Amino acid sequence: MLRMRVMKKHFQLALLFCLLCLQLAGFCNCGGGSICREVERKALVDFKNGLEDPNGRLSSWIGSDCCSWTGVHCHNYTGHVIRLDLRYNDGIGYLGGEIRPSLLVLNHLRYLDLSDNLFKYIRIPTFLGSLASLQYLNLSLNGFIGRVPHQLGNLSRLQYLDLSYNLDIVGSFTLDMVGSHWLTNLSSLQCLNLTGVNLSEAKNVLKSLNTLPLISEINFYDCELHIPLSLGVEINFTNLRFLDLSTNGINSTMPLWLFKLSGLEYLNLAGNNFQDLIPFDIGELTSLRVLGLAYNGVLSVGLPTTLGKLCNLSKLYLSGNEYLAGDLNRLGEIFSGCLENSLEELYWSEAALSGPLPSWLGNLKSLKALDLSDNSFYGSLLPLRLPSLQALYLYSNNFNGTIPKYLGQLLPELDTLELSYNNIAVRPDWVHPPKLKHLYMKACKLGPRFPSWLQNLKNLSSLEMTNASIVDTLPLWFWNFSLDIEAIYLSHNEIKGNLPEVSSKVPNLQFLDLSHNYLEGQLPQFSSNLVDFDQAHGLISRSTFTNTSIIVPRLSQLYISSNKLTGSIPSSLCELNYLQVLDLSKNMIEGVVPDCWNHSLMVMDLSYNNLHGIIPASIFSTILLVLHLSNNEFFGELPLSFKNCTSLKTLDLENNKISGSIPAWLGEKLQALETLELRYNMLTGTIPPQLGNLTHLHLIDVSNNHLSGAIPHSFGNFSAMKTNLESGWSNIYNYVNNIDINMKGREFELEGRIPSLFICIDLSNNMLSGEIPEELAHLSFLQSLNLSRNHLSGQLSEKIGELRWLEVLDLSVNNLSGVIPPTMTNLTSLNHLNLSYNNFYGEIPYGGQFQVLLDPSIYFGNRGLCGVPLNTKCEIEAPAQPPGLPNNEDDNNLEAIWFYLSMSLGFIFGFWAISGALILKKSWRYAYFRFVDLIYDKIYVLVAVNLKKMKRKCGLASE
Ligand SMILES: *[C@@H]1O[C@H](CO)[C@@H](O)[C@H](O)[C@H]1NC(C)=O
Ligand SMILES: *[C@@H]1O[C@H](CO)[C@@H](O)[C@H](O)[C@H]1NC(C)=O
Ligand SMILES: *[C@@H]1O[C@H](CO)[C@@H](O)[C@H](O)[C@H]1NC(C)=O
Ligand SMILES: *[C@@H]1O[C@H](CO)[C@@H](O)[C@H](O)[C@H]1NC(C)=O
Repeated sequence: MLRMRVMKKHFQLALLFCLLCLQLAGFCNCGGGSICREVERKALVDFKNGLEDPNGRLSSWIGSDCCSWTGVHCHNYTGHVIRLDLRYNDGIGYLGGEIRPSLLVLNHLRYLDLSDNLFKYIRIPTFLGSLASLQYLNLSLNGFIGRVPHQLGNLSRLQYLDLSYNLDIVGSFTLDMVGSHWLTNLSSLQCLNLTGVNLSEAKNVLKSLNTLPLISEINFYDCELHIPLSLGVEINFTNLRFLDLSTNGINSTMPLWLFKLSGLEYLNLAGNNFQDLIPFDIGELTSLRVLGLAYNGVLSVGLPTTLGKLCNLSKLYLSGNEYLAGDLNRLGEIFSGCLENSLEELYWSEAALSGPLPSWLGNLKSLKALDLSDNSFYGSLLPLRLPSLQALYLYSNNFNGTIPKYLGQLLPELDTLELSYNNIAVRPDWVHPPKLKHLYMKACKLGPRFPSWLQNLKNLSSLEMTNASIVDTLPLWFWNFSLDIEAIYLSHNEIKGNLPEVSSKVPNLQFLDLSHNYLEGQLPQFSSNLVDFDQAHGLISRSTFTNTSIIVPRLSQLYISSNKLTGSIPSSLCELNYLQVLDLSKNMIEGVVPDCWNHSLMVMDLSYNNLHGIIPASIFSTILLVLHLSNNEFFGELPLSFKNCTSLKTLDLENNKISGSIPAWLGEKLQALETLELRYNMLTGTIPPQLGNLTHLHLIDVSNNHLSGAIPHSFGNFSAMKTNLESGWSNIYNYVNNIDINMKGREFELEGRIPSLFICIDLSNNMLSGEIPEELAHLSFLQSLNLSRNHLSGQLSEKIGELRWLEVLDLSVNNLSGVIPPTMTNLTSLNHLNLSYNNFYGEIPYGGQFQVLLDPSIYFGNRGLCGVPLNTKCEIEAPAQPPGLPNNEDDNNLEAIWFYLSMSLGFIFGFWAISGALILKKSWRYAYFRFVDLIYDKIYVLVAVNLKKMKRKCGLASE
């Protein structure tokens, strides 16, 4: 019996050996060392044919040896493809297109990484669930849309699943999950990252994961997750080390089962609304290294003393909890004992902390980073000795006095010191920390003389002294005090003198902002590392562009806005292959724009110059996001090459001489368009209905052209005007996107983020005719509608009352008739209404919002109207149709209308001055969870336009 078994073993071994020989023989026969299998090679070729690969990243995918192709890995002995690693690698280009089922032929595939590419508008293929050998699947950082397929539950060997950060072009998350039971089949799963996947319909997802014995990392950042207060009888999660539940808006108390997960090393609960106190049980999580409790607005007073028992804790995040701290001096008990040695990073900003710095901070011997910014600490900077501290952030407090002379001895390791927005001075004999590299002292009082102590900081790499009350000339030594300097921000001072001729003395300079000073001179020729030369709003008088002005091959951003540049744009600019932002707005540049642009530009702003000619075709590319050419003299029709601009968000050609009609393809090709600003041109023809396809469009201004025909019914389809807007706009580097509009008869410049939030249709001063489409009432978030000075006729629909967010409605100088719909009294946001010079008749509705719209000029020139606020009393019967339009429009009269309207705004100012101030006080830069941010934005935009003046008066900054 035993013998039999041994023989069987031998036989099996022999068989194995033979098989191995055969394999090796095959391997040798193939020649060239290739062991790629033909059937898998064909499958890969077919898979490749489905992909879009504009940069030829897979150009090595030719020939028979598929195992040597980029990203393909085969098994050493069997030759099966086991790994496909197509993650985007910097500089090689993105992949997109379709994922073909030919992948299924690779049935030994264990590892599939398609992350960080441009797969967009496609669903996660359900057939991926049939790749039975798969252990690793990464589809993160793409644009996959729709539902996560349950078929993935068939992947019982899967250890790693990352579906995080799938976003659309405006930055909204695009995946969702319905039901979670299928997750229980992923019995090998160790790591799951669903960041941004909407889990609001996957209610039991944590309960499902509780059945997986090996799960060790769960990342549910920003998932609209429901968290159960109980997990049922058993809490498994024996291997769980990493749990991120942040930014889910959870508003229950903290579930106690969390504190039974004794193996946890990382726990992030930030960005929720956990109620009540932090439970004492938190002290049970003795393995914790990182604890995130930031931005839980409603946590009550009192850090539990048990926090001091977390002897492995090295990073603690408490920022953004205004009610948490209580008496700071009492916290010494917590921050002593084991935290003294373990705590390396403490983040406690925006937390309404006040008083002098507490002395217990000096116990934290291991502390490397301390952030107490945006609080109300006062007094002088205490001489705390923190032997390990490398980074100290104290901006936006009320510290005063001077920096301690021997700071270098107290903080010997300090590398970064951020003291902006304090009233702190520096003594000339300051002995700075020997390793200091980054010094930020924005809005400190450092002037009026240019600080001479800077000369001692020989290793400084970044320096910020923006708005530091310096009134002096720039000393010559400034350009060579530190060879390491990479970034200099000196804007908003009163620094005078000539720009120096610096070329080799600051070899590492990358960022330079000298704007808002009184510097003069030619554009300097800086080192070849400069990537961001920010001279915006500076004063370089008498400077002309020449072909040698800018010889910085790696320059990625060039801002020379609001200067006095003359000459024409040199074609050498086109040779800057890395240029992404070009802002030459508000200068005196003339001539035609060269037609030689490369395709790295994301932002081009040439507005407010004296440029002419047709718009050069080479500007238009698939990566262009923002194009401002307004206030020049460009002429000709909109060029066909515009069709390429599939990512364009802002198109601003205001005030040029563009002629021809608005092409229908604009609505078909420019799918990302958010802002279309074409006013003051010479456009003719009708407005194409295809514009209604622009799902992200929220600002369209084609006013002051010669457009005719009807307003398309498809305007009711603008979906970005129907939802509470979640625009993905984020600033592109330092570029500030401005849009000029006309509202309430005044010119406004919408700044920064506001243009991306403002919802507006302006078709005024054209020759449009026909009725106002009833469908416009579907645009429920519309804020401003201006159809004045056209030939519109017909009656207003009752549905107009559905536009609850409408603030501005101008229908003046048309042929509209009928009665004013009483539903308009429901327009509770309306603060500017103009119905003058039409043929309205009957009684003016009373009540609702009309109680504050009491300016009679709203109704002037409608001879059939009666009732408040007009002097005409209503008869029982409404009078018949009154006579038509006035013959000529009376400008004085309109002037008067605007005057009255600005008076009536006073009421609104009064209201917003209170809530507006509250809102604006919030620091935008550090807004943590997006949804709250968005609510602020929404309110902000409602008030921002009205409040522009108000804000200046109160000295409130918007950013
Ligand atoms: C396959 O070969 C590579 C390179 O020779 C080696 O690094 C790797 O460990 C081998 N893998 C196996 C499973 O033997
Ligand atoms: C997803 O989360 C894991 C940690 O659980 C992390 O290692 C991974 O980098 C995350 N993925 C992305 C794309 O950030
Ligand atoms: C805990 O895990 C085991 C095996 O992994 C499973 O059978 C059990 O149902 C799990 N408990 C709960 C409450 O899900
Ligand atoms: C929590 O939020 C949900 C949905 O937003 C709401 O229905 C519920 O009333 C809130 N609960 C508490 C305690 O605030």
